[in-house]
Amino acid sequence: MDLRDLYQDIVLDHGRHPRNFRVLTDANHLAHGHNPLCGDKVTVFLRLEDDRIADISFDGKGCAISTASASLMTEILLGKTLAEASTLFGHFHDTVTKGDGADLPPDLVEDGERLLPLTGVKSYPARVKCATLAWHTLEAAVKGGGIAQPVKTE
Ligand code: FES
Repeated sequence: MDLRDLYQDIVLDHGRHPRNFRVLTDANHLAHGHNPLCGDKVTVFLRLEDDRIADISFDGKGCAISTASASLMTEILLGKTLAEASTLFGHFHDTVTKGDGADLPPDLVEDGERLLPLTGVKSYPARVKCATLAWHTLEAAVKGGGIAQPVKTE
């Protein structure tokens, strides 16, 4: 199997069987994201403890790429600090929009490599929004302040 096939398999797997696809009932931050090009929506839930992501999940309806991106994002960011999350997003964003990202610190290189299957979208500008939707929503959840009430599950 060549690398392209492997990357495609990873995206398909996460698109069909997304990880952390659930409402996080004890979230203390959340945001709703929306791709205006297609109308797809995602909600990102976070439980922040100090500046660390103690838990993270998402739900919503999106294409295979946006779902796979959200799934991989939640897997990679669980347990990370907000600074690490921001560094990874910056790197990922630059890679999918400019074709290359700045070097990552050694302890984040492996996480950056896990995002490589999604970077093929750089050849398809309309798909860049699919791949970055969850990340932009995460950023909004962090910046948007906390939520006081427990999240309703229905
Ligand atoms: Fe809607 Fe990808 S087509 S998020």
